[in-house]
Amino acid sequence: MNALKRLLVFSAVAGLLTVFAPAQKTNAPSNSGLMLGVAWYPEQWPEDRWEKDLVLMQAAGIHVVRIGEFAWSTMEPSEGKYELDWLQRATRLAAKHHIDVILGTPTAAPPVWLTQKYPDTLLIDEQGKRAVHGNRAHFSFTSPRYREFCRKIAEEMARKLAKEPNVIGWQLDNEVSNPSYDGYTRAQFQEWLKDKYKGLDALNQHWTTAYWSQTYFDWSQIPIPVGGNNPGLMLDWKRFITDTWYSYLSNQIAAIRKYAPASQPICTNTMGLFDGFDHYKVESELDIVAWDHYVGQGHLNPDFAGFIHDLNRGLKQKNFWVIETQPGAVNWQSINNVLDKGEVRAMAWHDVAHGADMVSYWQWRSALNGQEEYHGVLVGADGTPVPVYDEVKQVGNDFAKAYPVLAGTSPHSEVAMLHDYDSRWAIDWQKHNRNYDQIKIHVSYYHALRKLVHSIDVVNPSVALKNYKVVVAPNLSLIPDSLAKHLREYVEQGGHLVLGPRAGMKDEFNALLTERQPGALVDTLGGRVEQFYALDQDVPLEGPLGSGHSSLWAEQLSAKPGTDALLTFGKSNGWLDRQPAIISRKVGKGRITYVGAVLDESLMDKFAGWIFSTSGLHSAFGLIPDGVDVSERSGNGKDVFVLINFKQENQSVQLPKSMKRVLANGESVSSVNLPPYGVEVLEAQ
Ligand code: GLA
Repeated sequence: MNALKRLLVFSAVAGLLTVFAPAQKTNAPSNSGLMLGVAWYPEQWPEDRWEKDLVLMQAAGIHVVRIGEFAWSTMEPSEGKYELDWLQRATRLAAKHHIDVILGTPTAAPPVWLTQKYPDTLLIDEQGKRAVHGNRAHFSFTSPRYREFCRKIAEEMARKLAKEPNVIGWQLDNEVSNPSYDGYTRAQFQEWLKDKYKGLDALNQHWTTAYWSQTYFDWSQIPIPVGGNNPGLMLDWKRFITDTWYSYLSNQIAAIRKYAPASQPICTNTMGLFDGFDHYKVESELDIVAWDHYVGQGHLNPDFAGFIHDLNRGLKQKNFWVIETQPGAVNWQSINNVLDKGEVRAMAWHDVAHGADMVSYWQWRSALNGQEEYHGVLVGADGTPVPVYDEVKQVGNDFAKAYPVLAGTSPHSEVAMLHDYDSRWAIDWQKHNRNYDQIKIHVSYYHALRKLVHSIDVVNPSVALKNYKVVVAPNLSLIPDSLAKHLREYVEQGGHLVLGPRAGMKDEFNALLTERQPGALVDTLGGRVEQFYALDQDVPLEGPLGSGHSSLWAEQLSAKPGTDALLTFGKSNGWLDRQPAIISRKVGKGRITYVGAVLDESLMDKFAGWIFSTSGLHSAFGLIPDGVDVSERSGNGKDVFVLINFKQENQSVQLPKSMKRVLANGESVSSVNLPPYGVEVLEAQ
């Protein structure tokens, strides 16, 4: 039988077999299932080892491997000489074991022949030092020559492999992050500014460059900011970085799409809270968000991790992939502790609970040499499974049972939190209180509200808000007039907008608004911030909501008649004494509330309870024991709850109605017992 015929028969058989496995049908849109994956680097091993690994993967219930992402020197050992047969053989061998493949373009690690012959492709760091070979992510992200090499290798891979039946998606590069400070990048940045401002007068005016005699008389005088600089310049540099990564990835998307069908999603693996660029823009041309979820040092904090999951789900407002996560420990922290026994499985289910349709471990087996020899793996240096392999195998068994129930479901929320890179950068660059941690403040609202509603969307302020009953926006520093209008309309249409602290201080150029906070929303609020204060000691709070304190930050508010004070500052620095700390006003069918304080946990719980009761929110599950994380995914006529016990003691949970235990063959129950790290997947009847 000739090779083509063998392949056709083989593919048909493989395709038939995969129909019955929980893995995705070949070339199916991969975000409709529930996949277990692993990062595998076949190029690092003798080819006669490959099948042993794939057999072990299959036995663990692994459905997908990601391969290729750092293999450029194997794919193109010299300029223009492409060797991809091995990659095709690895792909086909995976198909034989019912394992789908996500192909990673290898552009994060250029071969030495490339950077040695073309040193202009190497990045220059903030200190002006040119990178050397032997690490990764050391290329210049603006280099036209480098992009041409990237385009060619991506195109060669797609030409060779896109038609393989078990190729289900593509990952571009790896954790794009490092800008370059080389001369070409600076010139590109100056061109970008010229295109944005058209004339230097506009730039000098919006950046107020008369300050400290910063005025620019020629575009060529504008630097790439290193460390602190003019806030307008710094914000535009971040926006230039964002546009540059967008075009860097678009270059590869175009090459791959020449051969890869739309049924093969294209992603890039990102880093959770990383704010090196605006992910809303960079993700806009990609098909699915895929992020690398590592706890790193310590243990999983379900609300911190949940916030990051929901932020990543919000980037494209749909389910996502966790395309890397840790099988036990990492190797890049100061103390690389292992996750507890049971915590790896709990973490996988926590990912899924927040909308992950893939959980993929980094990595299968450590390369025998290289910078990551100590990192957690599923198979040890001797080629046999390490202890955590069995826990990941249990996840595989879980996914096989849960796939039919969870496929096509996702979280749906009545509450949205607004997240905006411009505001994060603006506050981080001028914290005014070095202890002011925006993410901690976001998570404090998230923690208090999620206990009540079990699902929160974290979205960009520009998205449609009308389907949310409550929109919470702490730290929304930049509120240009256009956004103020968007938020005002949301309130007037019946939404409850909760602003502050630090909301509405700046315009889109990172310049101070000429109204007090919250800027163009002052009239809607019927009040404003008279003065903001960094706190060196807590300030007491009291009022109808209860009593407690504000730490780190306080804003002295004023309120007109018709705007109610829910909390007032107690005795403190004289300025704040007896001044409103939270004010709220009904506006048409809606409401707007401003929080001029950083509330302690107990007051935040009371405040969340007030938001819940005044905004028509409903709780899908009712009260839950402390330490039990409850999430809901619904769709396809299914309503599924994921319960995880993060407390180090057994907990019993009464269910609001009879539910089927999906991981325990569907028996109907009205309560469940959860051991530490215990997981229950429950289908509401
Ligand atoms: C990152 C990279 C991987 C690997 C892991 C180790 O997420 O994407 O290549 O280095 O970290 O945790």
